[in-house]
Amino acid sequence: MNQIRWAIVGTGNIARQFAEGMREAPDAVLSAVVSRSEASGRAFAAQFGCDQVYTDYTQLLESGQVDVVYLGLPNHRHFPYILEALEHRVAVLSEKPMVDNRRQLDQVLEKAREKQVFLMEGMWTRCFPAVQTAKSWLAQGKIGRPLSLRASFSFLLEEENAWRFESAAAGGALRDVGIYPLAMAYLVFPEGPQQVHATVRTNGQVDLSCHMLLEYSDGRAALLSGAFDQLSGTEAEIVGETGRIVIGPEFWRPTTVTRYGNDGAREEFTLPYPATGFQYEIAQVNQCLREGLLECPLFTHRETEQISDLIEDIRLRCGIRYPTDEA
Ligand SMILES: NC(=O)c1ccc[n+]([C@@H]2O[C@H](COP(=O)([O-])OP(=O)(O)OC[C@H]3O[C@@H](n4cnc5c(N)ncnc54)[C@H](OP(=O)(O)O)[C@@H]3O)[C@@H](O)[C@H]2O)c1
Repeated sequence: MNQIRWAIVGTGNIARQFAEGMREAPDAVLSAVVSRSEASGRAFAAQFGCDQVYTDYTQLLESGQVDVVYLGLPNHRHFPYILEALEHRVAVLSEKPMVDNRRQLDQVLEKAREKQVFLMEGMWTRCFPAVQTAKSWLAQGKIGRPLSLRASFSFLLEEENAWRFESAAAGGALRDVGIYPLAMAYLVFPEGPQQVHATVRTNGQVDLSCHMLLEYSDGRAALLSGAFDQLSGTEAEIVGETGRIVIGPEFWRPTTVTRYGNDGAREEFTLPYPATGFQYEIAQVNQCLREGLLECPLFTHRETEQISDLIEDIRLRCGIRYPTDEA
């Protein structure tokens, strides 16, 4: 079997974790690294056994050397890098959040359709076996009809992560970490909320915290948070008519999911994984590419659209605007 040839774009924190995961994905090979700095690119490539480094992204895309690019860039750089890859008919796995707003999203989705190229927003949570297990328990009715969800991804962000605090980089807690509880809400309640209530604390540019109440029909609800200024528990709890499912700790990259029946039953699935867990997302993308799919069934374009619209609605209602909103 031929290996899928990847380029990693950006040599920051998450790109490094992605490359660690790739070591555990036997049908993927790191063919090239793209960095603004030759030195960073070389050091990163050497660490992960790759000898091709580009400081010119266009040159990489024209090289014919890769099947897919992984974009581990600050948020506001996703849009131009996605568009250019699609233009060159190179598949894209972009880190979340895919782009800044609906206007950019329409453009990248339209380009992917026009060029018939695979595009995915990197909601890696969906690819973990523990999350797939929770999804299948829900589908089997193991907790009955889901009635509520509680999930928070909140941590104390270090000052050196400067771009996350800036509107110019399309930062903020909701899109950085709040997006994970939101994606969990769409897994549990795929129909989407009827009403969304949200409140934010800001630094004058972006949200430092965002707390949300999503209302569904018949009084069902999701209580969600994402924050840079507080440290919360890391489990997601789905409560149904006949029991509950707890995903986590670290529900965004879990090894464990547990079901508690109202009758006292308990069922647990645990799968410790080596490296960082990115291997599951890489394996999914590889499979999609082999099957000639244009989107990943585990996290579809429709879900990217729904979550992106919901985030944009909250952020504009709360007065958080990015320079790219004005273009
Ligand atoms: N899936 C997850 O769990 C997860 C976790 C954390 C972050 N993320 C997402 O991953 C993305 C990157 O986050 P991060 O924490 O890795 O950021 P980071 O550590 O700041 O790294 C971003 C990298 O992008 C490159 N870069 C920086 N500014 C750039 C610019 N203006 N133009 C082009 N390239 C630039 C740099 O690499 P070079 O110097 O080599 O060019 C930099 O090291 C974000 O969108 C974030 O939301 C996802």
